[in-house]
Amino acid sequence: MFAEEWTKKYSQALQEVSQCIGLCRMFITGLNTNIDGLIHVSGKEIENIITEKKLANEVIYKLDNPPREIRTFSDVLAGILYCAKTGDGEEWFIRDPQIIEMIKSIFSYDRLRMGGQCGIMTNVLALMNLRVIPNVVELPPLQAEQFTTEIGEVLIPRFEGKEIVFKKPLEAARHGDKVFIHWIFEFDNQFKARINQEIVEAPVENRFIATYDDENVKLKTDPAFREGTLKVISEVGKVILSGYHMLQTSYSDGSKPEDYIKETLELINSWRERNPELRIHSEIGFLADSALRKSVLDMIAPRMDSIGLNEDELADNLYTLGHKNNLRKIRALDAPQIYKGARKIMERYQLSRIMVHTREFSLSLTKSDYGINPIDELYSIIFGSLFAATLAHTGIFPTIRAAEKTLKSGDLVVSEKGLMEHQKLAELLEDEENYPKQKFLKEGFTETEPSIAFTPSKLTEPKATVGMGDTITSASLAGEEALTRRAKKIPT
Ligand code: GLC
Repeated sequence: MFAEEWTKKYSQALQEVSQCIGLCRMFITGLNTNIDGLIHVSGKEIENIITEKKLANEVIYKLDNPPREIRTFSDVLAGILYCAKTGDGEEWFIRDPQIIEMIKSIFSYDRLRMGGQCGIMTNVLALMNLRVIPNVVELPPLQAEQFTTEIGEVLIPRFEGKEIVFKKPLEAARHGDKVFIHWIFEFDNQFKARINQEIVEAPVENRFIATYDDENVKLKTDPAFREGTLKVISEVGKVILSGYHMLQTSYSDGSKPEDYIKETLELINSWRERNPELRIHSEIGFLADSALRKSVLDMIAPRMDSIGLNEDELADNLYTLGHKNNLRKIRALDAPQIYKGARKIMERYQLSRIMVHTREFSLSLTKSDYGINPIDELYSIIFGSLFAATLAHTGIFPTIRAAEKTLKSGDLVVSEKGLMEHQKLAELLEDEENYPKQKFLKEGFTETEPSIAFTPSKLTEPKATVGMGDTITSASLAGEEALTRRAKKIPT
């Protein structure tokens, strides 16, 4: 398929999903919600701070030996430079609260926004006029203000006596709850800093996150969330769970990350018992520690219907599972290797679906027991990609109308690399699985088990980098929910 044909497919996907979005049942989102403080940094700015604070040698050392956690201010600078140099988007935890004061005094944030996978996905879904119950452990008014209010319904469960009631975020807010601001240092591809003799240039735009948070790291669920979701679970179509990547290898109170994972599994079991048709998706985030990454995957993936990750997370997880070949190709966005890697994880954990999203393209593998037609799955991931492209283009979380406007503006271009990788994947499928290359190239999906759906991304000069994965994921899952509901109403 050529670029123009993909553009037509994008329009069609938007039309198909938006026409039946009203059929969606309720969503549950968990587990991590926080506030993001966005700070745009330039290379010159970082260079000046390093010179002024005489931290050049320290930072250079840390650039080569990334500490992956923040104990001193130079770790923050090293983190920013490390992400700029590699083009990766990492998140390091702040171990000393004093660092927050330093960050505040040296950088001032450009704006506050909803943060955390759970928080972001909640807003994306609400903006499609859907009903969502998020998990929010700490809900001070500043956090409550970050929720979408103008459209859709964000429902916060609260106890009133022994009864559960669902409130709007601002009505449910509690003064005195903790405020978690995660510092997001965004850089663009013009980022260039000279530290001593070393020049750090960013190959692509991305971000570095410095996080101080002591609740989300324990995957805490609000008691009223547990009770409230159980009460309405029969009306829920999909649950999206993320935040497992916030887990720490150890905790000062002696608790273990596995203890917290188990608590969430108990809740998952209770949901499933009450609603066997529920589809649960987990978004796998960046986890630096390989052993912990394995625990999370081994404990979580078998209990999920579907998981999602980006190319780096796919490579990291394959590495952890002992697959060490072709990881470089995966990181370089080689679609055949991404497909093969995703399939390994799908098979190992008996998943019904796996989605890999990258800057240039996205693909999903779906088994028939997941219950979606291959073409509807393709429309869903295209719809998700359009939402992510709209976020990148406008810098704000999109509505269906904004997505439509952005698509019509002609400002988005189909990724060349995405088209090329589609071609390569089609060749691999023909050579190794006998699937007609032209058919896959023309349709964008296969009728195989599992079926494959592939879409190149639509690219733009990005105004946002944070929340892209969350947006593509939640919008794709909303697309699936809408289209499967339609298919049930009008059996094909
Ligand atoms: C991580 C960060 C959060 C950010 C999110 C974006 O969860 O902790 O601050 O909003 O990633 O995906």
